[in-house]
Amino acid sequence: MQQNVNVAGFELFTENWLTYKKIIDENYMFHREMYQALQAFLGKQLSTAPISVLDLGCGDASKIPCAFSLCQLDYYCGFDLSALALVSAHQTISEVTKQYDLVCVDMLDGLTQVDKQFDVVFSSYALHHLSASDKAKFFIHAYTALKPSGILILIDTLKDASEDLHTYYDNYLGFAKNNWQALSDVEIKRVSEHVRASDFPETFKYLENAAYFAGFVNNATLAKHQWHQLCVFYK
Ligand SMILES: C[S@@+](CC[C@H](N)C(=O)[O-])C[C@H]1O[C@@H](n2cnc3c(N)ncnc32)[C@H](O)[C@@H]1O
Repeated sequence: MQQNVNVAGFELFTENWLTYKKIIDENYMFHREMYQALQAFLGKQLSTAPISVLDLGCGDASKIPCAFSLCQLDYYCGFDLSALALVSAHQTISEVTKQYDLVCVDMLDGLTQVDKQFDVVFSSYALHHLSASDKAKFFIHAYTALKPSGILILIDTLKDASEDLHTYYDNYLGFAKNNWQALSDVEIKRVSEHVRASDFPETFKYLENAAYFAGFVNNATLAKHQWHQLCVFYK
């Protein structure tokens, strides 16, 4: 993976990534509960045969080894827009499987071009970056990228049914400002700017309808904490 990264871009990435790591360490986005529920689900559903996984918006993939520890991860493919995050992902995933690809690409562009089918299509805290219409396309292409018995697994932030986007921003960021004590004022400001500029969560109903339209026949919510949800969609 060859990339050119300018110094300003590198510093911004590092600052944002360090803040995200703090959010994970403090469990502000319920990574602990989400990934414990995911690990238990995968252990029950997929522990017997080697599996292939497509991870969209994989970041540094730091939670993947633990999440899939009860499965035989045969092949892992991760897509992310951040070349720097993929450098860390390379280190992490190479310790779990020898067969993997990490590609610096927009997740929807990459998804529309995959030429194999996977047992699991997975995305964690990344789908909310797509527009509503791109999320609908995401479900259609995820369906195609799954084997007949494959499962789509999503961890993401979702709006409550009663919230529009701006109410969501005010509620989510108001809660963060009052409760995410480990973040400095500068970090809270940066998180707020990022969320208001780049996060477009949907309601669960929207995802459910998009999944149904794409062909998924069933779904289940495995964990839900505040605006954070883990759900699975079955072909
Ligand atoms: C909050 S991080 C989540 C990383 C990891 N999946 C996790 O759960 O810890 C969001 C990731 O999505 C990536 N991302 C955002 N928009 C993307 C897009 N359109 N295509 C690919 N990756 C994207 C970012 O670069 C970042 O690594």
